[in-house]
Amino acid sequence: MDGTIKFIDQIDLQGKRVFIRVDFNVPLKEREVSDDTRILAALPTIRYALDNGAALLVLASHLGRPKGKRDPGLSLLPVSRRLSKLLGEDVIQGEDCVGERVERQIEAMGERRVILLENLRFHPEEEANDETFARALASLAEVYINDAFGAAHRAHASTVGMVRYFGTKGAGFLMKREIEYLERVLVSPEAPFVAVLGGAKVSDKIGVIQNLLGRASVFLIGGAMAYTFIRAGGGKTGRSKVEDERIELARETLAESKARGATLLLPVDHVVAERIDPQAKWKVVATEDFPPDWIGVDIGPETVRLYSEKIETARTIVWNGPMGIFEMEPFSRGTRGIAEAVARSKALSLVGGGDSVAAVKMMGLSQGISHISTGGGASLEFLEGKRLPGIEALRDVSP
Ligand code: 3PG
Repeated sequence: MDGTIKFIDQIDLQGKRVFIRVDFNVPLKEREVSDDTRILAALPTIRYALDNGAALLVLASHLGRPKGKRDPGLSLLPVSRRLSKLLGEDVIQGEDCVGERVERQIEAMGERRVILLENLRFHPEEEANDETFARALASLAEVYINDAFGAAHRAHASTVGMVRYFGTKGAGFLMKREIEYLERVLVSPEAPFVAVLGGAKVSDKIGVIQNLLGRASVFLIGGAMAYTFIRAGGGKTGRSKVEDERIELARETLAESKARGATLLLPVDHVVAERIDPQAKWKVVATEDFPPDWIGVDIGPETVRLYSEKIETARTIVWNGPMGIFEMEPFSRGTRGIAEAVARSKALSLVGGGDSVAAVKMMGLSQGISHISTGGGASLEFLEGKRLPGIEALRDVSP
């Protein structure tokens, strides 16, 4: 189903109540927002709507996974407060997201005011994409804008169900930027295109490898998933985490990448530890010397050097997934080395996935990256070539 997507700057907002689905699923610490990246990323859309005549803004988001029940620990109140500070405007905290109480709150709002509805997932109907719930949400506004890229892979009431009730719908600036970058790497990547894939599981990244074969010429594999590939190639992996049931799939992928002329590199050396503990004894070994009782926890320095050389020559880079257990300082060097190489590169670089994004931020290297996606699962599914329901719902298919 194709059709164009309108963006917020192509829509007349004058005097309209505007519903904006945002992804404010942010980390909290002691009921305070501990990382406001996603709030900052939505500000341009919110500001644009306020500056372009919207009568009032109804913002909505989920937070965490409260499983359809009201959970005070997952209230969006701390987010309202932070948003209010960042926006420099009062933000009203919704008492709920649907129903009389919130309707009354909205009726009592003055012109140009902003309300952030309470956590959508306090109602099981949100994730069930329930029609009555979707209609109730839709009744709160006249224009629908989706800026929640991070939730675009979810077919929920606020991302899909409610959209059909709006004559005017579109995407916000964050959604636009995310789509543009992801399409650039999928549709017209400049060669050489290097994909750096890490993380724990082969099963999480296999779809991306499949979809990028034919687009990327080099795949650099790290993280625990590398051990499943090494095992598939007959190499030693000691007591490292290997997905036995995926060895065959890894073997097929190695063969397919070869047949299609892509270079898929596996680590040649490793940081191995006696146990997964920053205090544990560790050492660097080549794959052929992998000791039987040790566990691989990071790529080694020679692998960092080889991978960095490939990254240096790239014109397009996609990175998803850390190279090792970077949260533990002694095992963070591989991920740091790769992050530095990507940040140094002049290529168009796109980093997605919660852990690699966290690593880049923790290492203070965000400035060197062309685009850091705000979507973990969403960016992964996009890279797998899937159509995301939250984006598809915005397409205008009327003749
Ligand atoms: C995310 O953090 O990836 C999005 O907000 C989606 O959250 P979910 O995985 O709980 O649906």
